[in-house]
Order: sequence, then structure tokens, then C-alpha cells
Amino acid sequence: MKALRPDARGLARAAAVIRRGGLAAFPTETVYGLGASAFDPAAAAGIFEAKGRPHFDPLIVHIADLRQLRSVAAEVPPAAALLARRFWPGPLTLVLKKRPAIPDIVTSGLATVAVRMPAHPVAARLIRLAGPLAAPSANRFGRLSPTTAEHVLRQLGPRGVMVVDGGPAKHGIESTIVAFERGRPVILRRGALPDAEIAAACGLRKVRLARAGAKIRAPGQLRAHYAPSAPLKLIKPGAAADPRGAAYLAFRRRPAGGFTGVEVLSPSGDLREAAANLFSALHRLEASGARLIYAERVPARGLGLAILDRLRRAAAR
Ligand code: TXA
Ligand code: MG
Repeated sequence: MKALRPDARGLARAAAVIRRGGLAAFPTETVYGLGASAFDPAAAAGIFEAKGRPHFDPLIVHIADLRQLRSVAAEVPPAAALLARRFWPGPLTLVLKKRPAIPDIVTSGLATVAVRMPAHPVAARLIRLAGPLAAPSANRFGRLSPTTAEHVLRQLGPRGVMVVDGGPAKHGIESTIVAFERGRPVILRRGALPDAEIAAACGLRKVRLARAGAKIRAPGQLRAHYAPSAPLKLIKPGAAADPRGAAYLAFRRRPAGGFTGVEVLSPSGDLREAAANLFSALHRLEASGARLIYAERVPARGLGLAILDRLRRAAAR
């Protein structure tokens, strides 16, 4: 796999791959991102698979203009609009209420979506061609964030990921993430945009930094961050389960009847399809009014590890 030039042809190729549900890495001013369509759950599952991430962590959605912002975020509080006007395009990510069109796998089941408008001109052109992109840093899990196309190819090239080469990333560290609590900004992750600049723009002396124990945190760090309203119990596929008042999350095969709700993650046993369906299936089972959700263990390989990790978090409450 080779790097694509950031010209009209290279960008058209990357955009075509993304529109077909594939992945393409692209430069931003912070680090290189591994992008997929922000509206396609299976493509998002492909991101976790290519990264070898052991669990799902919500992804940042990258946009190129304010029209795209309206297609991903349902609400923009005044403080967020002010920060967007001041620092976008740039290394600032805003956590906003999401629109239903953003699939659950992108936000790990949260009601919010993290949104950023990158300043890199190549990123902006690609996003205009391909639409909003869900993208984490383009590295294998636990490895260094990539700041050149060569870094990306070394880690993800063997997985068939293509990269648009936009030269070395200017900042080399990730964006600053800001959420809003009762209209006030809270920094969830320090990054390339200094806290003081955010404070100054908001007319505040200081902006609060979310710490462990605070109400809003970067949710990927929580042991139980997506807890369905009913307790969840992990079982072996096909193990005996009492259907009365219970819902059932199957991996491949439907159980015998009597459950308040049943969801099958992937009849063909495809872990990528299972990952893409996981959060929406849990939402539907939760809505079935069950007092308990049985969830079958999926195979502990590839994306199955991410699914199991997620199910364990949902079971720990
Ligand atoms: O500079 C950057 O932000 C780079 C480039 C590619 O844009 N992206 C990046 O993504 O650093 P990633 O996936 O490595 O980090 C995303 C962080 C995670 O720690 C996640 O927990 C947090 O954003 N996050 C995503 N959605 C969130 C949400 N709805 N609420 C709170 N935190 C969220
Ligand atoms: Mg990262």
C-alpha cells in the first residue's frame, strides 16, 4: 500500500474508498487520522478492527463547514458557538448533543458526539468530498500517534489502509477536547490548544478541567461507561437462560422463544458486522423493558475482544 498524493486524483480515490464504506488515513494539523464515514456503523467497526483497539472508545467526527456541523450535532450551546467561531478550523474538539444519524458505535452509545473542524487544507478537501469523517489517530492501539504518512504506513499499511500524504503534522499532539456542563466549558482532554486561550475566549479566568470523579470524563476510561438500564449477564452461547422478563443478545443464533426481546448480532458470525450492531442492539433490548439482559460471549479474537470488553463494561455496574 502506498501513500496517495494530496492532489485532486489522490483525494478523489480516498473519498471513493470512504464512500464505499472503507477507510483512508488523512493528515490533520494535530496528528494523522484514520477516517471512515461518520454515518456508517460497519465502517466505524472497521476503524476499531484496523487499530486493534481492545475496546470501543467514542470517535471524533471531523467536519469541513457549519452545514456539516448541523448534520451531526443536534444542539450547539452559545459557549460552543463562540469557541467554534474563534478556533475553527483548528485543534479544538467540542462535545455536543448528537443527531440520530450518527450511529451508536461512533459515540459508544453516548448521547453526545465529539466534533472537530481540522485546519489542514487536505483534511478539509477530503471531508468536503467524502462527508463528515469519524477518525481516531491513525496508529495501532497502544503505539505512538502518527505525525507523518510514513508512520501511518508502517503501522497500518500491512492492513491495507491507504493514506493521503499531507506532510508532517504541525502540532504533533491531539486536539483539546471541551464539553459543556450547564452551558459552561469543561476541558476533558488537554491538547494542542492551550487552556488559557479557551478561558480568554470565554471571558473566564480559568476553565475547569474534568478529573476522575468529575461528572463528565473521557468515557473510554470508565470501567462501566455504557450501562443499559437493566443488568447485563454474560453467558456462553446457547447456555440455559430463563426467558421470563429477560431480553437476549445472541451472537449468531436466535434462542428459543419467550424473551421480551431478542437481537442477533451477526447470523454469519462476522465480528465486524457484530461490532457495528452492538450498541443499537443493546438500545433496543433496553427499550424492550427487560429486567435482565442475557448477552452471549463472542469469540475472543479480533473485533470480538472489543465487543467482549464493551459487554464486560456493560455488565460491571
Ligand atoms: O487531534 C485529534 O483529536 C485527533 C485527530 C485525528 O483529529 N483525533 C484523536 O482521536 O485524538 P482519538 O480517538 O485518539 O481520541 C478521541 C478522544 C477519546 O479519548 C474519547 O474518549 C473522546 O475523544 N471522546 C470522543 N467522543 C466523546 C464524547 N462524546 N464525550 C466525551 N469524550 C469523547
Ligand atoms: Mg489516539
